[in-house]
Amino acid sequence: MSLPVVTPGETDTYEDPLDLINEIDELKKEKDASIMAHFYVDGDIQDVADYTGDSLKLARDCTQVTTGTIVFAGVHFMGESAKIMNPAKRVLIPDMLAGCSLADSCPADQLQVFQEQLRAEGRKFDTVAYINTTAAVKSLCDWIVTSGNAAEIIDRVPKDREILFVPDQHLGRYLMEVSGRKMILWPGSCMVHEVFSIQGLVRAKRNNPGSVVIAHPECPQNILEITDFIGGTEKMRQHVMSVKEPTTFLVATESAMIHAFQKSAPQHNFIPVPGIIASTGETCACNRCPHMARNTLQKVRDCLKNESPEIEWRDYFQQARAVLDKSLLK
Ligand code: 13P
Repeated sequence: MSLPVVTPGETDTYEDPLDLINEIDELKKEKDASIMAHFYVDGDIQDVADYTGDSLKLARDCTQVTTGTIVFAGVHFMGESAKIMNPAKRVLIPDMLAGCSLADSCPADQLQVFQEQLRAEGRKFDTVAYINTTAAVKSLCDWIVTSGNAAEIIDRVPKDREILFVPDQHLGRYLMEVSGRKMILWPGSCMVHEVFSIQGLVRAKRNNPGSVVIAHPECPQNILEITDFIGGTEKMRQHVMSVKEPTTFLVATESAMIHAFQKSAPQHNFIPVPGIIASTGETCACNRCPHMARNTLQKVRDCLKNESPEIEWRDYFQQARAVLDKSLLK
């Protein structure tokens, strides 16, 4: 099985990347725009971006941008958060269909019903949402976390309150372990981190003696149990930079991350842990997020040129803004 990276009907005409890069640089000036790129988009987009980073850094960087337009190369919830935190700016994203399996796993109406159920039982709780959620979900929550600030935010939740953590059950379970707080976990997961199998990782370790496993906390528990270093994208990047001795790292996260690792710590060898299809045991290229892969240099150029697609302001963004600002900026 391979995940659909380009949907039928989408044009895929080859254009010289160097021409595209020049065009993008010109359009950025003409349109007064800055480009933000998450570590999970293609390396060539990271290289033309004004800001690159993890979800936390990019959300904070967005508030410092001085241009009138932000182009967010990532997935929809990232562009949406950028708009929420910067209502006066125009926020464009290269592909409106770049979604997120985690955000999809927690529809706002279902969350609302579950929260009402808990309240009816007399439970006193705060809802803590991973930033990988829609704005409608954010507007129903008390706190927003990224992998970069989760432990710190959980510490801010009053001890006499329970925590409902949405939507990533694996990140939630990991946070229960590091924080010592018990949580009610929403049963969502990331389609990319879910495909790493214990057999694939053990096989990769056997084939690479002396290698070190680094993994994102969105991975399931059995993967994290044999991981040497667990951290979000920026924490992993800092870690590989701190290791001076040339090392082989087995990387259990979205494979585009390796571009940033190679740039930051070129002394090392980075091997993506393969995904495995559970039913057949075959390896697959599913450690590439099909949503992140929707971002291409062509689409970055086109969205600058056409000033579209744009994230439009919605009424419920106001409530989501209060939660995002309190969680990420204070
Ligand atoms: P971080 O950038 O916080 O590590 O999160 C990765 C991610 O889930 C992007 O969708």
